[in-house]
Amino acid sequence: MAAHDHPLFTRVYAMVSGLGEHSELGPARSHVLAGATGRLLIVGLGPGHDLDHLPPAVTSVVAVEPSPSMRAAAHGRVEAARSRGIEVELIDAVGEALPLPDDSVDSVLFAYVLCSVDSVTDVLAEARRVLHPGGTVCVLEHVRAAPGSWTGRMQRAVSTGGLWSRLAGGCRCDQDTRRALADAGLHVEDLEERRLVNVPVVNWTLMGSSRP
Ligand SMILES: C[S@@+](CC[C@H](N)C(=O)[O-])C[C@H]1O[C@@H](n2cnc3c(N)ncnc32)[C@H](O)[C@@H]1O
Repeated sequence: MAAHDHPLFTRVYAMVSGLGEHSELGPARSHVLAGATGRLLIVGLGPGHDLDHLPPAVTSVVAVEPSPSMRAAAHGRVEAARSRGIEVELIDAVGEALPLPDDSVDSVLFAYVLCSVDSVTDVLAEARRVLHPGGTVCVLEHVRAAPGSWTGRMQRAVSTGGLWSRLAGGCRCDQDTRRALADAGLHVEDLEERRLVNVPVVNWTLMGSSRP
């Protein structure tokens, strides 16, 4: 889906998230994925770093990623996961229209993607449709900081006029993802919020796992 392709952002993001693997971000990915089991849906695979953090209970992965340059950036990690015996299917599709049957996955991962999708409501509805009853939703998302906080003011400043969104592949850095997840019927009480990465506008992070 060429409309979703931002090759320059792909290069920058792949480099930054690769560096993040050596900081708090790698352990954070392992932490949120710890509750994933069985067939895992990854919405917005990006360069695929989550594939390096799958717990043993995950037996197969189906990932959707609409950006051709991101799929290319993920190629090596997809092959590495396959060589570890994990079946990985990578599909050119968006989270708003998952080409998957109802009740067909055991877990879903949203990592740094709900900020970029066209419709968070539709993506969450689709995830609930394909997730088995009792399945797990893993979340690692940067979110809106407290209003009036320094980070919150920064987020508002860079969002003005769509500047941040243009630079960061359509990302909305001030999104209230906790509210969106709760509105979609997920239990969000146990999701932790804390500062994670070093980029101020995207450091306030919602993380953990939840069940509808
Ligand atoms: C910032 S990257 C995060 C990638 C990865 N999840 C991670 O944690 O590193 C966001 C990804 O979501 C993808 N994306 C954008 N809109 C999407 C949509 N509607 N459905 C699925 N993926 C989407 C982008 O192409 C990009 O690869």
